[in-house]
Amino acid sequence: MRERLFWILKNYGVKDRIAKAFLEVPRESFLMKRYPLSYVYEDVVLVSYDDGEVFSTSSQPSLMAMFMEWVELSEGMKVLEVGGGTGYNAAVMSKVVGDSGLIVSIEYSEKICKIAEENLKKLGIENVIVICGDGYYGVPDFAPYDVVFVTVGVDEIPDTWFEQMHEKSRVIVPINLKLSGRQPAFLFSKASPYLVGGYKLETRFIKAGGKLGNLLERNKKFLKEFPLSKVISISRPFLFLELVDILTRKLTKIDGRFYYVDDRGAVEFLNGEIRIYGEATEIENLLSQWERCGYRGFEHLTLHIGYNAFSRVSCSI
Ligand SMILES: C[S@@+](CC[C@H](N)C(=O)[O-])C[C@H]1O[C@@H](n2cnc3c(N)ncnc32)[C@H](O)[C@@H]1O
Repeated sequence: MRERLFWILKNYGVKDRIAKAFLEVPRESFLMKRYPLSYVYEDVVLVSYDDGEVFSTSSQPSLMAMFMEWVELSEGMKVLEVGGGTGYNAAVMSKVVGDSGLIVSIEYSEKICKIAEENLKKLGIENVIVICGDGYYGVPDFAPYDVVFVTVGVDEIPDTWFEQMHEKSRVIVPINLKLSGRQPAFLFSKASPYLVGGYKLETRFIKAGGKLGNLLERNKKFLKEFPLSKVISISRPFLFLELVDILTRKLTKIDGRFYYVDDRGAVEFLNGEIRIYGEATEIENLLSQWERCGYRGFEHLTLHIGYNAFSRVSCSI
């Protein structure tokens, strides 16, 4: 059965080292629910844990393999996995990085995290460390990581992950878009003070709980009163809002309306215009960069997420 999955992955163009890792790990050992073995090795998402209280899924193998390809996962690497679930993906990655590498896998649900520990122990996998907690904080004790591998939909890429990466480390991450509800995956590399990269494909993961899933709520407190300083009419306002969402991590939503919130000002997003209160240099800069790129959607742009720096967008991809 595992052979079948191997060939499915090979047909996707997945490299031998990664496809072979799937041959080495019994997926059924990570599933609480009994599925027919033939179905376990289909290229499908499966429920790995569900006790009516907490829930986890085992992601689609070809998507996991593609993520591994994009981050160029290889022998000896140290990986932070966020959203460890019952441990299958961590186990497969552990075979790719080998004994000289390490997977640090963080899972929010205490129950699921304990099960992941047991599953990995039963299979004698020693190069995976399972941590129970909110992935928002990463795991600083083992940093820096060569790769941050995110298997849950998150609202933002927090400062903590950026700090736990070294220059050129990669992060693959599905981001929850607040307006459309889409969950596109992005690949970024660290080039301080930015993460530079772009769109890869559409996904559908579980949405994160904890601080990785409540950005709009957390940002509410930053909306302060400033005098109205400018009204700018804007074509394709929703595309611009999505760009601001991915790039700035400063969106909030109040009474059904989106705002960008900053120490020196705020921006209100309306249909067809934006209203700037106080100062919003980052947004004005972004707007002129985006105009120069012909108002293209984020899928067709290079994104530079700033950490203690204004985020930018450039046209080439
Ligand atoms: C799609 S499942 C992960 C699949 C997993 N990688 C596997 O191979 O089975 C997403 C997991 O993310 C976890 N999660 C949700 N919010 C989280 C957070 N803030 N930090 C860490 N894990 C989180 C969920 O409990 C769930 O188990």
